Amino acid sequence: MKLIIRLMTAALGMALTVSCCQAPKSEGPVYLDDSQPMEARVEDALSRMTLEEKVKILHAQSKFSSAGVPRLGIPELWTTDGPHGIRPEVLWDEWDQAKWTNDSCVAFPALTCLAATWNEDMSALYGKSIGEEARYREKDVLLGPGVNIYRTPLNGRNFEYMGEDPYLASKMVVPYVQEVQKNGVAVCVKHYALNNQEARRHEYDAIVDDRALYEIYLPAFKAAVQEGGAWSIMGAYNFYKGQHACHNQYLLNDILKGEWGFDGVVISDWGGTHDTDQAITNGLDLEFGTWTNGLNSSSSNSYDTYYLADPYLERLRIGAASEDILNDKVRRVLRLIFRTAMNNDKPAGSMCSPEHDEAARQIAGEGIVLLKNDNDVLPIDLASAKKIAVIGENAIKMMTVGGGSSSLKVKHECTPLEGIKAAVGDNAEIVYERGYVGDVTGDYNGVVTGQDLSESRSEAKLIEDAVAAAKDADAVIFIGGLNKASHQDCEDSDRYHLELPYAQDKVIAALAEVNPNLTVVIVSGNAVAMPWVDKVNGVVEAWFGGSQAGNALADVLFGKVNPSGKLPFTFPVKLEDNGAHALNAYDPEDLTVEYKEGIFVGYRWADKQKVKPLFAFGHGLSYTDFSYGDAVCRKPSVKAGSDVTVSIDVTNTGDVAGKEVVQLYIGDNESALVRPVKELKGFRKIALNPGETKTVTFTIEPDMLKYFDDAKHGWVLENGKFTAYIGAASDDIRSQVEFEVK
Ligand code: BGC
Repeated sequence: MKLIIRLMTAALGMALTVSCCQAPKSEGPVYLDDSQPMEARVEDALSRMTLEEKVKILHAQSKFSSAGVPRLGIPELWTTDGPHGIRPEVLWDEWDQAKWTNDSCVAFPALTCLAATWNEDMSALYGKSIGEEARYREKDVLLGPGVNIYRTPLNGRNFEYMGEDPYLASKMVVPYVQEVQKNGVAVCVKHYALNNQEARRHEYDAIVDDRALYEIYLPAFKAAVQEGGAWSIMGAYNFYKGQHACHNQYLLNDILKGEWGFDGVVISDWGGTHDTDQAITNGLDLEFGTWTNGLNSSSSNSYDTYYLADPYLERLRIGAASEDILNDKVRRVLRLIFRTAMNNDKPAGSMCSPEHDEAARQIAGEGIVLLKNDNDVLPIDLASAKKIAVIGENAIKMMTVGGGSSSLKVKHECTPLEGIKAAVGDNAEIVYERGYVGDVTGDYNGVVTGQDLSESRSEAKLIEDAVAAAKDADAVIFIGGLNKASHQDCEDSDRYHLELPYAQDKVIAALAEVNPNLTVVIVSGNAVAMPWVDKVNGVVEAWFGGSQAGNALADVLFGKVNPSGKLPFTFPVKLEDNGAHALNAYDPEDLTVEYKEGIFVGYRWADKQKVKPLFAFGHGLSYTDFSYGDAVCRKPSVKAGSDVTVSIDVTNTGDVAGKEVVQLYIGDNESALVRPVKELKGFRKIALNPGETKTVTFTIEPDMLKYFDDAKHGWVLENGKFTAYIGAASDDIRSQVEFEVK
């Protein structure tokens, strides 16, 4: 059907072109003329639509599409998950596979990995590449990226988000949005807002003070909208102030459309709409996924029973709903269709290209974080390592299938063991042992990995075999962590605890006993506890790396890529070191989740409580060393409203080229309200050859010094002294300098 409508549109477009040559353009319908201003086209189309047609474009017609206006040649709108690759096609009204043979994609690394690159260029490359894949598959809306803040390490969906810091997430989301949309494909930034856990995600009410809302939970959404120019946003499942986020007066009308001036479309999360009257008045524009069990909830077309379908039409017909509100929703959806499905300038896109694989590998490589590297256990030197033992299920398990709606069907996935084998070639013997049994399934909505991960050995025997393989190896690489099974890193369920599952701690401890040349690689989208950390020399966070996971990991392990990733969230030693847990403000059974820690999320909590994390926000090592000079502020006293600049020299003092993320944090020395010790307000990733020095200069704008005052409902800049802290991590400040705003 989609194709037919597209052909119709194309035909209409051609007719217009022909008539254009013979007569002035204004004689054709304005809405079809893309040389006309957007708003003129929207008004023209709106004026031609019947009431029924208007309502028809405000709700889904299938699992992932909504109707256009066939009579006017306005095409359907097609959405797709998101956010790490283009989801395989499902049946019209089923989650099951449509069994296409040409819908495999390149899986890009999970968004935690992208955030860990701390490199806006990587975000642009990501957006460009995934946007091209979406475009090629004729998708109009990509359901992603996700920017919910990392509040607890138990959130099953943290891997789809960009970490704990609003500044980092804001900077990293913008290029993704811009580059996707250059393809004539809208992003749909999700899940707006306060969807910071999966437990009871449809039911809990987030109780958050305005300060935490504005300072922590909203900035990345605001940046995506205002700086990125996002064309759509997805409402979250949870409640806020007693209303579902998908039809929420405060979040949607007051803040998003009011304060931020959003002119795009609010799309409900699938099944996130619950009430027609609220959906009409509280800011929702386009309803998807209601009755997600499909057509069987109604004998006729269940899509007509959606809250924004017949029930809405009925209210309009009897005059019980405002036409102004209806027209506002329709304008937004028309704008979205003109920007995407009816965008004549969009490029053709491409799918599974070598460039996309290369992009996936590069991003994954830049996001991998070297957490610990005692005795230079890494990189593994193939001149001396003749036997390498690889242990662990995650070395062989495909990770692109599973985890919920972000699950993909990839053309090819390079697992860690495959990547290691390819990098090592004939240079060394590789022995593999599984060590533990985790999740042997490999199936999501009918996409199957086809891997046989069945295992009959006992836990003790698996450990015994792993130890035997590792004992006399020159290097041991344990590859474990979490996976995308339920209660691991997976949608719709949270983790039960911070510890590694499946007796992995025992395996690691046993390996550490017999071989000091042990590196533990964690594949996850979340922090994990590491009770064995003092016993192992190497620790690497590899994230869910996508199609090129194995190659990217091998690039780092063998030194082809010098690691430069930095943690986008804190790894606490134990759960209670995290604010939400310390204050008992997370309980998977609670229907009311009070964000008692307020603004003290992640490192802000660690700094305030002086708790030493296992690995701090911003931490990440390199195979070279960087020395920092003294931070210099040439004009340390400025009038309110002026910028302040702070510079620092950074030198590569080692023998290999490397990249460093220079981080700027700011602390307010004295303020009326309690503020965090310091907050990230700038970062720059620089490449340095051995011996090379670069000067990094940060411009501190007045807005960066403000806090949100609940009482005034506004941002406040207080005069006084501030400190700029510059360093290699939130717990590794190398230099600081004071400045004063008068
Ligand atoms: C998820 C969304 C996703 C949608 C469509 C929902 O369950 O929360 O993130 O985009 O399904 O698959």
